[in-house]
Amino acid sequence: MRELFAACAEAHPNIALIKYWGNRDHRLNLPANNSISFNLEGLLTRTLVVFDSQLNRDRLIINGRERFRDPLKRVQRILAWVREDSGIYWNAHVISVNNFPEGVGIASSASAFAALALAASKAAGLHLDERNLSRLARIGSGSAARSVPDGFVEWRSGTGDHDSYAFTLFPPEYWDLWDCVAVVSTEPKPLGSQEGHLLAETSPIQWARVTDAPRRLDWCRKALKERDFESLAEVVELDSHLLHAVMQTSSPPMFYWEPTSVALMHQVRRWRKQGWNVCYTLDAGPNVHVICTSEVVQRLEHELQNFPGVLQVLTARVGKGARPLPLETCQDLLRQGGLSLSGVSRRGT
Ligand code: PMV
Repeated sequence: MRELFAACAEAHPNIALIKYWGNRDHRLNLPANNSISFNLEGLLTRTLVVFDSQLNRDRLIINGRERFRDPLKRVQRILAWVREDSGIYWNAHVISVNNFPEGVGIASSASAFAALALAASKAAGLHLDERNLSRLARIGSGSAARSVPDGFVEWRSGTGDHDSYAFTLFPPEYWDLWDCVAVVSTEPKPLGSQEGHLLAETSPIQWARVTDAPRRLDWCRKALKERDFESLAEVVELDSHLLHAVMQTSSPPMFYWEPTSVALMHQVRRWRKQGWNVCYTLDAGPNVHVICTSEVVQRLEHELQNFPGVLQVLTARVGKGARPLPLETCQDLLRQGGLSLSGVSRRGT
């Protein structure tokens, strides 16, 4: 008889205020330094995992399209851990959708692996606590560890696999900050973060970035605690500059900034001089994340939408962590996988 064990979950991507770049252990994604981020409420990945006793290989469907090779291999790393822990060795259907457009340079790996870790572990009957879920998500993509807990989050590098996980520094409502992401290019990236972490060590200034990280982390925690935007702005921009300095001085160099990215950085600093609570940070791509407080968000969104070279603006406030969903709300995903609610064992509710 065919048996199906299913669970569904959702998670948000996050924006790092203090960045993760470079690993001590590439297989386990043990990072070179702690990092701090907040979850982006408006943006969402929803993932369904169904272990199927009669399936002859793992299947991965993202945004309605079946994926093979690298994306499937990364998903299988999470499934392998879950199988080992649960003793359920069946193949799985993994069906995932994002509510934000693919290929606009908004990394979906953090939300994807956080949602996958939760759905896969629940489907296999495991009840991982937040810490162990964060560790599992980390195996898929380091920054995914930070999409598991709520709100403002710190991922501690730890001493090994057992203590490298993320935890909440402050809940989402602690400070009403927003991220307006100015999308400036939809070109595929020449090098992704997976390759980037491998190259970090080739930059002569990675050691300086990592050695100074405890100071920036303290500074950032204090600015968050005191809700001191001016101080937060300084450390967030400094940390983003250090990340890009390392990228630009790696071999081969990674240069992600486009003319519009640079123009936006100048404009954000001018707005700050005029008294707006705004600052910028950039990840492994040319899009500019403009962080702001709630009283400027509408004006900022409007200005960014009309800024020459900006294709689109995505706006998100501070969000919660990964959470399970009732299977009834994931029927569209079941349908995409050619499955239905009948015959499915609900492990995730
Ligand atoms: O989790 P990864 O491997 O996609 O790395 C994320 C790297 C940055 O986005 C550039 C920085 C960060 O801390 O999110």
